[in-house]
Amino acid sequence: MSDHGNEIYDVVGVGFGPANLSLAIALQEQRAAGAADEISALFLERQFSFGWHRNMLLPSATMQISFLKDLVTFRNPASSFSFVSYLYSMGRLPQFVNNQDFFPTRQEFHQYLEWAQARVADKVEYGSEVTSIRIPQDTVPELADCLQLEVAGTGGRSSRVIGARNVVISTGLVPRMPQGTEPDERVWHSSEFLEKFRRMNAAELRRVAVVGAGQSAAEITRFLHDELPHAEVWAIMPAYGYSIADDTPFANQIFDPSAVDDYYFGSDQSREAFWRYHRNTNYSVVDGEVIRDLYRRAYDDEVGGIDRLHFLNLTRVTGVKRSAADTCVMLQTGSVGEVRELDVDALVCATGYTAMEPTSLLGDLDGHCLRDEAGHYRMERDYRVVTSPELRCGIYLQGGTEHTHGLTSSLLSNLAVRSGEIVGSITARLAARNTDHAVGSGVRGDIR
Ligand code: FDA
Ligand code: NAP
Repeated sequence: MSDHGNEIYDVVGVGFGPANLSLAIALQEQRAAGAADEISALFLERQFSFGWHRNMLLPSATMQISFLKDLVTFRNPASSFSFVSYLYSMGRLPQFVNNQDFFPTRQEFHQYLEWAQARVADKVEYGSEVTSIRIPQDTVPELADCLQLEVAGTGGRSSRVIGARNVVISTGLVPRMPQGTEPDERVWHSSEFLEKFRRMNAAELRRVAVVGAGQSAAEITRFLHDELPHAEVWAIMPAYGYSIADDTPFANQIFDPSAVDDYYFGSDQSREAFWRYHRNTNYSVVDGEVIRDLYRRAYDDEVGGIDRLHFLNLTRVTGVKRSAADTCVMLQTGSVGEVRELDVDALVCATGYTAMEPTSLLGDLDGHCLRDEAGHYRMERDYRVVTSPELRCGIYLQGGTEHTHGLTSSLLSNLAVRSGEIVGSITARLAARNTDHAVGSGVRGDIR
């Protein structure tokens, strides 16, 4: 339980996106159900308020999962935190149903997430960035009852150290730029798109380019075509054309909760098959509707004799030369890899993300986290990092576990069930520890 003179919690969540929001709700619902041992929890988020990929909240962007894959429904269909409950409380349920669409806009889903987070706000501290997690100084790991988190207060908040018997790290995907390219005021990663775009005088953007052939690239290309009617928009893509995201029913089964077991307990061969056959459900692919929408625009421009939407296919960005307002993009293009350059007023790199990577946050503690032959964290089925036996505190990951738990690791599809599994694991381990303390047997190696 928390002790405010010397702040210690049973669980501290690092990052408060949808994953840890779902966990906070699972904990609250466990409390409401009258769980015998209440688990004390705090969630730390570096943003000043809740925000889910705010810089990609483009007007017509829709969700890539059904509204039923919300924060709770697959774990607790009767939850008051469901998307349906949200619609009901907004007085919009009949209209939503009349609309006959499983995929709300990202803006509406964002409003749902904000509504949900407001109901667990007493457990969240915004403007708080966790800068390191460590074993308390002068303590041997086997005696450490909790881990220490260094929390940098942003926006006037003071910095402090808090204790956690378990940490659940959910700090999200890491933006990836093309090699030799750094973000600045004219070169943007898609994750910072709207913020950087709004800083510009749109009239000065006469030629813009978007790199990539994934969902972010296609959505941004469409947005720029709408917002900059005077400008040339160049789509630079490594593929011959955008490829469709496979969301057909059989393929979609890889996002079912049961697929996590099939992946986790499967052979190397079966795990490899998941990737070989189904990578195109998520990576470097685009919703069919957006593809058709873009093609229609290109065709309409052609009919109207307008030449401003350009698709540069089989092309990769190899670098960028920047000087004042000039931005020259270096390209390797065509089947023979011809090198060419393109001058633009702004370049958007919708070049994807790498998986969540907590190594630097863990510092020396990382040495207690065991790794497999490929250098990835070894993971328990309950999303707990396998640690050296003497470490008693739990380190759980929400994200960064594609190698053990499969494709849902960085997605929303399995959040509700995953959060329930983590709460179950933490509860069981705390109960075992408390029993252990009660019988006064001191340190137990198996409570990890
Ligand atoms: P998320 O990135 O949302 O949250 C992590 C949080 O941690 C952030 O708020 C960050 O500020 C905070 N943080 C980071 N470091 C910190 C620190 N040291 N201390 C404190 N806080 C820290 N998936 C899907 O299934 N369906 C979909 O429709 C979409 N749509 C989608 C759109 C776009 C534009 C992107 C880029 C991605 C998606 N995704 C998706 C995938 C996406 O990963 C997923 O929707 C969630 O964002 C995953 O939630 P998390 O909470 O894990 O990460
Ligand atoms: P992505 O799917 O990883 O796509 C990145 C693209 O950039 C790929 O086509 C990649 O090509 C290309 N690329 C990388 N380096 C390049 C270079 N140097 N030159 C040219 N092209 C390069 O990333 P994303 O589109 O950002 O999508 C990430 C996640 O966010 C996905 O889960 C997606 O579904 C989600 N998302 C959802 C929404 C929504 O819900 N509406 C919106 C946006 C994104 P290669 O494959 O050849 O490397």
